[in-house]
Amino acid sequence: MSKITLSKLYEMKKSGEKIVMITAYDALFAKIFDDEVDMVLVGDSLNMSFGGHSETLGASVEQMIYHARAVRRGLKRAYMVVDMPFCSCATPELALQNCAKVYESTGCDAVKIEGGAHMADTVALLNRNGIAVMSHIGLKPQFSRFMGGYKVSGRGEEGAREVLSDARTLTEAGAVLLLVEGTIRSVANQVALGTDVPVIGIGAGAGIDGQVLVWSDMCGFFTEFRPKFVKRYLDGAELVKGAVREYAREVKEGGFPIEEFEYKQ
Ligand code: KIV
Repeated sequence: MSKITLSKLYEMKKSGEKIVMITAYDALFAKIFDDEVDMVLVGDSLNMSFGGHSETLGASVEQMIYHARAVRRGLKRAYMVVDMPFCSCATPELALQNCAKVYESTGCDAVKIEGGAHMADTVALLNRNGIAVMSHIGLKPQFSRFMGGYKVSGRGEEGAREVLSDARTLTEAGAVLLLVEGTIRSVANQVALGTDVPVIGIGAGAGIDGQVLVWSDMCGFFTEFRPKFVKRYLDGAELVKGAVREYAREVKEGGFPIEEFEYKQ
């Protein structure tokens, strides 16, 4: 199967073929996901599911680079996006410096930046410098502490206007992809209908161009809490626990290792 490029994603949107995206944080799982999905996101959600923190704030640019390099080594085909962590794009100049570092050193296809219309100058500057940007609008987890929690976006006339205006402003500034999180379906649909840019959603309904889920949520490894939009396709934590429990029991009882696992003279 050939590499998924940005133009392929645009073709998929045009033809109505849904785009599938999943997060990955290491080479091991990136390799498993590569043939099954179109896009892989090295999300700053790694700070929670991988790092054990209670929010995404706290992930550093260096951490994202470390994980993204590992994911890059696991991918041959999928389009790879790397999340820019909290405040790493606080000014256009800082964004250019940090995004260039991430883009160059990880070999990713695009960077993802959380933020609405106020990020337009940053997106335009990155665009002029040849860095592809996926803009993350709607519910923005990096703003959740400031907002007092994870607030669904797009509700009411004003909420809808804000999401639609963010989408329009950022695509006009040069965002090549949009990610819409935690937004009511009708508003997310309007975003997707109003642009040629592929719109990937999480908690934004089925009417847009594609979906993304955090792999450890959909495989049942992250069990601290479960957002409404997460469907669990596997009871991963229980499966792994069961295997480790079996291993421990065999070691204790002398069932492992047996002769088959030993070296011979
Ligand atoms: O960090 C992440 O994994 C994300 C997804 C929630 C889209 O941004």
